Amino acid sequence: MSLSLRVATNRDVDDVVRVIRAVYDEYSFAWEEDGYHADLYDLEKAYAAIGDTFYVATWQGETVGTAALERFDAVPGEIGAIVEHNGFLRVGGADCSIERLYVHPNGRKRGVGQALMNRVIEDARNEGRSRMEIWSDKRFTDAHRLYERLGARVVGERICDDPDVSPEWGLLLDL
Ligand SMILES: CC(C)(COP(=O)(O)OP(=O)(O)OC[C@H]1O[C@@H](n2cnc3c(N)ncnc32)[C@H](O)[C@@H]1OP(=O)(O)O)[C@@H](O)C(=O)NCCC(=O)NCCS
Repeated sequence: MSLSLRVATNRDVDDVVRVIRAVYDEYSFAWEEDGYHADLYDLEKAYAAIGDTFYVATWQGETVGTAALERFDAVPGEIGAIVEHNGFLRVGGADCSIERLYVHPNGRKRGVGQALMNRVIEDARNEGRSRMEIWSDKRFTDAHRLYERLGARVVGERICDDPDVSPEWGLLLDL
């Protein structure tokens, strides 16, 4: 089969950076190796070591996509309400989130993004998680169609703490 998904290790760092940087260049977003993107340069420390999971998708052996599952205690507050929690706007009731979902521009519209989402959702469900939080730049309209097809609903908005201070939609997906 052409498409394969697996958990990333630090041997994947160069490919992960290549894929995500291509998306940032596509949107003319700023890149911060020592700041907002520092997690990508030590995937094992930033994800596996704290109980989270970073995945890569390969197409015919080449890395074309990424996604991460973050796990946490349920965000306090009413389910689906936007609440301030530890200094950030968050979605009440969420106990996991999808992060870093990116597919290289050359690898899109072949089902890679959907496959990454399906894997993250399946892993979260299998371990008994209840609700997935999703924050997504308002310009990522392809992603919003994908999220909504999978049953996520928009519950609010915020300004991200990234270098571009990006406006984001907040979504919640019942698992
Ligand atoms: C959003 C994103 C991850 C989707 O990745 P993708 O691999 O293109 O996703 P898929 O291929 O699963 O689905 C995309 C579209 O291709 C279609 N598609 C899937 N397989 C296909 C195939 N074999 N042939 C033709 N179309 C196909 C899907 O139906 C979907 O259609 P839509 O555009 O009408 O919604 C990608 O566009 C991306 O990285 N965007 C920029 C960054 C981003 O938005 N990230 C999300 C951060 S929150």
